[in-house]
Amino acid sequence: MSLKLNSLVIHGGIDGDEITGAVNVPIYQTSTYKQKELFGHPKWEYSRTGNPTRAALESLIADLEGGKFGLAFSSGLAAIHTVISLFKGGDKLIVSDNIYGGTFRLLDNVFKPLGITYESVDTSKIENIKAAIDDSVKAIYIETPANPLLSVTDIEAVSKLAKANNKLLIVDNTFLTPYLQRPIEWGADIVVHSGTKYLGGHSDVISGFAIVKDEKIAERLYFLQNAIGAVLSPQDSFLVIRGIKTLGVRMDRHVENALKIADWLDKSPYVEKVYYPGLKSDPGFEVQKKQADGPGAMISFVLNKEYDYKEFYKNLKLITLAESLGGVESLVCHPASMTHASIPEEIRKKVGIVDELIRLSVGIEDVDDLINDLEEAIKKAKK
Ligand SMILES: Cc1ncc(COP(=O)(O)O)c(C=O)c1O
Repeated sequence: MSLKLNSLVIHGGIDGDEITGAVNVPIYQTSTYKQKELFGHPKWEYSRTGNPTRAALESLIADLEGGKFGLAFSSGLAAIHTVISLFKGGDKLIVSDNIYGGTFRLLDNVFKPLGITYESVDTSKIENIKAAIDDSVKAIYIETPANPLLSVTDIEAVSKLAKANNKLLIVDNTFLTPYLQRPIEWGADIVVHSGTKYLGGHSDVISGFAIVKDEKIAERLYFLQNAIGAVLSPQDSFLVIRGIKTLGVRMDRHVENALKIADWLDKSPYVEKVYYPGLKSDPGFEVQKKQADGPGAMISFVLNKEYDYKEFYKNLKLITLAESLGGVESLVCHPASMTHASIPEEIRKKVGIVDELIRLSVGIEDVDDLINDLEEAIKKAKK
């Protein structure tokens, strides 16, 4: 029976425990497994290689993303590190020019010295990608909507271009989750996630994923997952399975709140610019509507010159200043000094990650309370 997403989040992957009938997948808190004989090669040998709780989560995320194979890691960056380890010295990646600062740091400070280089382009314009393609390019790596400026890249168009040129397309789907966007359906080869965000959903676990359809890529990724070893623990796998059960209801409320807040900010006298692909005026609006079932709940904005952004952060009472996003509670961050601090200042400025940029992860609290908190904090920040 083919299930819709709101059922898949609860029943996808491995549903419960076949041995005991437990409704929930048990936490198999074991590092190793008893082997009956030499040369037997049982299914479960050692928990870095495979663990039933992690395997249940891996098959669940594969089902949700419409892939065949899912792999769970100890963080989003561990997932991305393992995926980029598919490449070798001399290979080049084309990368969205506004991406999570940690991904930039990984590319710039870990892989570049090893000879795996990258070229940053504004991937929301396909001609930029076309111009950057050459023989050394092996993959195109995009975030859409991107962190922190929410720019939208047309996954279908990039996937066609990638296929025509024999390149892989890798999509970081953290900001929307498969509930709102399924890049594999648009032709992406590999989807990655920080599961720390909406998938876990409660700001209590660090995790990451890679999802693929192609068996050969999956085989190599499983090899790398085991060889590098940054796997998700059984306890954390359980927590993410539990988080995913409410993904649909959470995302519906996240988006409902974010649409109201973005609209309020946009119409308010306090704001110079709002970045949110759910606003009709946003340059990504049409592509976003085509490729996703909602614009997500991340909003970035710049206050107008009459307000001091540093004071704004100090005055918030309900919304918490913190790194991360995607939890049930609303969080605000300052990309220039927090999530994107590892990007050199001149690159940040060129891309538009200015010091005044405020990034808001809209939670599922009562939206009137959130708007009141924002308005009070802005008013008090008047210069
Ligand atoms: C879009 C995106 N991708 C990847 C990551 C890295 O994930 P993690 O913090 O779980 O390593 C983050 C973290 O903020 C992110 O925002």
